[in-house]
Amino acid sequence: MSAPIGVFDSGYGGLTILKELKKQLPQYDYIYLGDNARAPYGTRSFETVYEYTLEAVKWFFDQGCSLVILACNTASAKALRNIQQKDLAQLGTDKRVLGVIRPTTEVLGNFSVTNNVGIMGTAGTVNSDSYPKELAKFFPSLHVYQQACPMWVPLIENGEYDKPGADYFVQEYIDLLFKQSKDIDTILLACTHYPLLAAKIKSFLPNNVTLVTQGHIVAQSLAQYLQNHPEMDQKCSKTGAMAFYTTDNALAFEKQASIFFGQKIEANHTDLV
Ligand code: DGL
Repeated sequence: MSAPIGVFDSGYGGLTILKELKKQLPQYDYIYLGDNARAPYGTRSFETVYEYTLEAVKWFFDQGCSLVILACNTASAKALRNIQQKDLAQLGTDKRVLGVIRPTTEVLGNFSVTNNVGIMGTAGTVNSDSYPKELAKFFPSLHVYQQACPMWVPLIENGEYDKPGADYFVQEYIDLLFKQSKDIDTILLACTHYPLLAAKIKSFLPNNVTLVTQGHIVAQSLAQYLQNHPEMDQKCSKTGAMAFYTTDNALAFEKQASIFFGQKIEANHTDLV
């Protein structure tokens, strides 16, 4: 039995990843779930993010999915390892859960000429040190600087991302990052919400700095994964269908989601527990 690929985020951010998945891998079916009722995850404890993410993964498995992408850096940083190493043994050894951090760290160093990169993410992602640890495996001589940007997700979730009021917090976190090193020439938006702020962020960056978003990187990596794992590819249905679920209000989700996804969508409400 084949089923859609599950795509999960705390809220809307994962739609920026799904948009690229749909672009690069249009033949597959996808189910998106945003845990909007409990977002943001970025300031929550390890235990809470793990518990919420595990509930979401179980929900996807109940829908029949065999492959789930955690399209959320915070969930990838705080829950993925436990789920892969502990929970899958009980939930189904034939199922797979993948994140967004590993594929990003495999290529990020290639963008930098000065060998100095900045990681901007939620407090949860930054405090987990997942990026410096993973980057050290692929680019051992890379200098990695991190900056938590706790105000960015609320600005984005509340539709303030393109308003003048957002400028203050965009500039503040960029200044704090460059205070750590003037040599940074590559910045990763290590939160799937942040692409909505990309235009504003760019306007505050020196011209020589490359701003990297994750959608296309994750999509390329998934394409490669499915090619290398025909047994998983066979379990993914391919009619080009999409379904969207939220743990909060479906109408509110539809309105906001179209901004992140770039086209109108129809959403359904679901409870996870
Ligand atoms: N979009 C999620 C991420 O990539 C986090 C947003 C949140 O704080 O819930 O980290």
